[in-house]
Parts: sequence; C-alpha cells; structure tokens
Amino acid sequence: MTLVMSKQLLPVYDKPMIYYPLSTLLLAGIKDILIISTPQDLPNYQRLLGTGENWGITLSYLEQPTPGGLAQAYTLGADFVGNQPSALILGDNIFHGHGLQGTLASAAAKTSGASVFAYKVRDPERYGVVSFDAQGRANSIEEKPANPRSSWAVTGLYFYDEMATQYAANLVPSPRGELEITDLNRKYLEAGTLRVETLGRGFAWLDTGTPDSLSMAGEFIRTLENRQGSRIGSPEETAFHMGYISADQLIKSVAGSENSEYGQYLLAVAEEANADK
Ligand code: G1P
Repeated sequence: MTLVMSKQLLPVYDKPMIYYPLSTLLLAGIKDILIISTPQDLPNYQRLLGTGENWGITLSYLEQPTPGGLAQAYTLGADFVGNQPSALILGDNIFHGHGLQGTLASAAAKTSGASVFAYKVRDPERYGVVSFDAQGRANSIEEKPANPRSSWAVTGLYFYDEMATQYAANLVPSPRGELEITDLNRKYLEAGTLRVETLGRGFAWLDTGTPDSLSMAGEFIRTLENRQGSRIGSPEETAFHMGYISADQLIKSVAGSENSEYGQYLLAVAEEANADK
C-alpha cells in the first residue's frame, strides 16, 4: 500500500512528472497506490491515470483539501493504510540508478520500523537533513535547517511499518503550519527504529520542485534517454518488466498514442519481447 503526494502535473522532458515516482513504486513491487493531491489537480490525475488496470495495478484517489504537509498523507490516508506497512513517495522525486530495484525491494520487504534514503547534496538546507554518529547511526533529523549538520538530504521516499498512522495522528503542525514528514521520521528515530540507507554517488536523485531543478531533471532525462535509446520512469515498461502485464497488454496500453515517440518505444519493447519467445 502506498501513497503518492503530488500537486504538479508538469512534464519532465517527455512524460508527466508523476510517471517517475509511480515507476519507482512499481519497481519496488508495490501495486496498490493512493494518489493524494489538491482538489484542483486530483481530477486531472484521475483523467490521466484512471484505475491503473492498464498497468496491472490499482490506483485510488484522495483530496488533500488544504496544504497541511506531507505527513498528512497518514492522517488523511489512514483508512487506506489500515494496520499495514506502507510507503510514501513525493510526486516530484526522481530516482535512477543501477541496483535500484534491489534497494527498493529490500526496503519494501521490511515489516518493522522505517526505512529512508539519504543522498549527498550541495544544498542540504533545502531538504530534510540527517546526520550520523561515528558508527554511522543516524543521530538527528531536521527539516530545512539553516545550519545543516551534514550534507545528507532525506529523499522523498519513505517506507513505514504500521506505526505510521498512529505517529502521524500525534504530530503537531510545524511553524510553517504543516505536519512535517521529518517530524514523523523523528518519531521513528526516537523509537530507535529508523533505518537510514545512503544512496551513493552512482545514483541520481532529483527533485523537480523549483524551476531550476525541474529544468535540470529534464536535461538529465533527455541526455540519458537520447544516449541509451531507453526510457527512464515509464510505468508501462516497468509494469511489463515486473510481470504485472503481458506484452499484449503492453501493446493495448498504448492504444491511442501509437504514433507518439513514447508509444512507438513501448510497442518496440513489446515486439522485442514477443520476438524473443
Ligand atoms: C519535502 C520534505 C523534505 C524532503 C524533500 C524531498 O520537502 O519536507 O524533508 O527532503 O521533500 O524532496 P518540500 O518538497 O516540501 O520542500
């Protein structure tokens, strides 16, 4: 079970921004997904993505009436999550790198505590920041600190055990009036159950929350896709790769966009797989 928080329907290079986090979840083996967005944007997501049936997954939708913070996913989405482990991904976060599937699968397989990922950045003050003691154990986590204790940003992908809804229900709004995901993570840190995995420099973690970062992410995707001829962040291809849909279903999912470059790409993926049989 998973929640996606998203408020921007912008594209990143050749596909809608939300395709990237959705692909990441699919790659983690997650198929039951709740999309949370503003009352204005949610109907557009629903039109764009539908029930998820085409991709062999189940998509549900929920409004966040006012911008109350990321941890609100766990108060608004409490019924969806129930008493189960879950994951949360932010709609503007892009993850790419060799071995990502294994990293995600091992986090998703854990049933107790929380797993978050830290990534070294030049501008940690823009993010949640985690610091470590001499043994490499996380010893602090702060939201957008003016004086960061480390360069390790906490990325927008979180795996939680069933305690998340309970912890979230007891959070108080931060000075900016939001239920902070960092405060939820701190509950796990204080309980001694927060695992922080560092993503090395061979990984790319990009966020697209500012004009500059959006444009940088687009450049990155464009460069790799043009060089390799394969697509990054394609939920259709990921669903196929994970065995959620067959080659024939992949072909069906392209209906109506066969003539776009993206549609052509997916058809080629399906045809190649059919030819290999
Ligand atoms: C949010 C979180 C922050 C996290 C970041 C990742 O920041 O509050 O802890 O590091 O996402 O993208 P925001 O996007 O709200 O600035």
